[in-house]
Amino acid sequence: MIRYPVTKPFFSEEELQMIGTALDSGWVAQGPKVAEFEKQIAAHEGVAEGVATTSCTTALHLALSVSGLKAGMDAIAPAFTFVATENSIVMTGATPVLCDIHQETFNIDVEKLRQIIETKYRSGNGKLINVESGNILWGIVPVHEFGLCCEIAKINEIADEYGLKVVEDAACALGAMYKDKHQGAFGNLSCISFHPRKSITTGEGGMVLTDDPSAAKRMRELRTHGSTVSADARDKGKGFLLPEFPEAGFNYRMTDIQGAMGIAQIKKLDHIIEEKRKEAAVYNRLIAERLPEFIPPVEPEGFYHTYQSYVCMLDLKKLQIDTVEAGGEYRNILLQKLEDKGIATRQGTHAVHLLGYYRDRFGFKPEDYPQAYACDRLSITLPLYVGLKEEEQEEIIDIIRATIDED
Ligand SMILES: Cc1ncc(COP(=O)(O)O)c(C=O)c1O
Repeated sequence: MIRYPVTKPFFSEEELQMIGTALDSGWVAQGPKVAEFEKQIAAHEGVAEGVATTSCTTALHLALSVSGLKAGMDAIAPAFTFVATENSIVMTGATPVLCDIHQETFNIDVEKLRQIIETKYRSGNGKLINVESGNILWGIVPVHEFGLCCEIAKINEIADEYGLKVVEDAACALGAMYKDKHQGAFGNLSCISFHPRKSITTGEGGMVLTDDPSAAKRMRELRTHGSTVSADARDKGKGFLLPEFPEAGFNYRMTDIQGAMGIAQIKKLDHIIEEKRKEAAVYNRLIAERLPEFIPPVEPEGFYHTYQSYVCMLDLKKLQIDTVEAGGEYRNILLQKLEDKGIATRQGTHAVHLLGYYRDRFGFKPEDYPQAYACDRLSITLPLYVGLKEEEQEEIIDIIRATIDED
């Protein structure tokens, strides 16, 4: 039996009450509750507008679509991220180009990003053209992995230098900051997730954040089948005629049931992040004292980590293991033993180039993105959620210690 899940959403009576108000109103599709939730999230992150969607994947698809990404174009994205980052690029018809990451931060390696731009592309007609495929380089989809912002200021500089677009995958990063500015406030469209493994949840759900009112307007139309008028606005008058549909859009609308739940959840957001940060500090201390085989996550100077997940790496040198592949086998046996002892863990996330669709389509080998490959095989997410007590964290670390010592 699992005693320590890897995460747990944090709910109170308030979510039930708020959902009740949506049901009582008789309006459960996208409507006033979603609009209110959008305003609150945007205000929290310091941006002008939020456009709610059914998930972060659909938020990404929407944001990439209004940013002009389409077939015949390339978008550069990190090789170590949840597959939805690349899938959303594929959904537009464009081609993802992978870039390796830093093992310490799990975020895109900005030097490698520059190298890719300079070696894979040539200039032509004011654009960057892929020397092999002829695709035009559209831009970059950086990820703020596990609640730590990537080097977004440097990425924006590179984008300006080469005339590229940036859409941020901030699925894990609601509340995360770089130099006292929240993710989403760096001038790009930024996409967050409300999946239950994230800081706050609406069951499923996502949102695009932006300071650009025209992008927000177009995303609102596109998420409603490409309609110029939303369903609740139609309900307020002259609803007998269907509006104009100038574009072929999607149905990516969050429901007011979810919006209501989100309004209850956002009140808890700062508390959730503060609690998780305290617990992360406890793990950092315990690992330093008792578990030298684990490398804890870092929070570089100037960054504010929200610890959506607390992800460690195995230290192969300390374990006297020679190869990443052997380290991966060791990790998997360790995680199975921990599960048998009631502790749920997870690999951090996956290396996209090792996954079937991408491996087969591009003929990738594990060593093509060595850092992403190592993180895929050696990362371990420890349980972290509001209510996890210090003595429980001690027990978790002591059980890991004892399990490693069994060998
Ligand atoms: C980095 C990243 N991008 C995108 C997603 C997709 O989010 P959603 O499940 O809301 O579609 C996730 C979900 O875990 C993620 O971690």
